[in-house]
Amino acid sequence: MAIRDILHYPDKRLRTVAEPVDVVDESIRSLVDDMFETMYAAPGIGLAATQVDVHKRIIVIDLSAEKNQPLCLINPEIRKSEGVEQTEEGCLSVPDIFETVERAERIEVKALDRNGEEFTLEADGLLAVCIQHEIDHLQGNLFVDYLSPLKQMRVKKKIQKARRQATII
Ligand code: NI
Repeated sequence: MAIRDILHYPDKRLRTVAEPVDVVDESIRSLVDDMFETMYAAPGIGLAATQVDVHKRIIVIDLSAEKNQPLCLINPEIRKSEGVEQTEEGCLSVPDIFETVERAERIEVKALDRNGEEFTLEADGLLAVCIQHEIDHLQGNLFVDYLSPLKQMRVKKKIQKARRQATII
């Protein structure tokens, strides 16, 4: 297992649309393991393959405090969604930015697990938000895309400022 580098906004590679996984083989399982290790080390509660510059439809999530409930979704597809929920979101690819985003409250998602077995999951609350956020990454979308142009400008300025300061140090 290895910790992989996480791409940061506005890196254009985050805009790549991921390809579906054909076969869940050892190389995919090894990537999934690396993604969990990278996510836990960050630390974060979700990670999409796009964020580690691998453009395959794979996401990993763990919302548990003990970090012992890994959830892997390969080729995830939202089949149903209902309700509206607003949550303050952050993202490992957009450090130190937290903004309110509106998403579906409840979803039903179909995916393959780490062994390539198909399963269906009904999710609400934070899990539903997290799955939608990570699936967005696979489409090349980021949560900041939902913000107003003014807020997006503020986010860019804040990130540029942080980067300038980092250079001085
Ligand atoms: Ni994210």
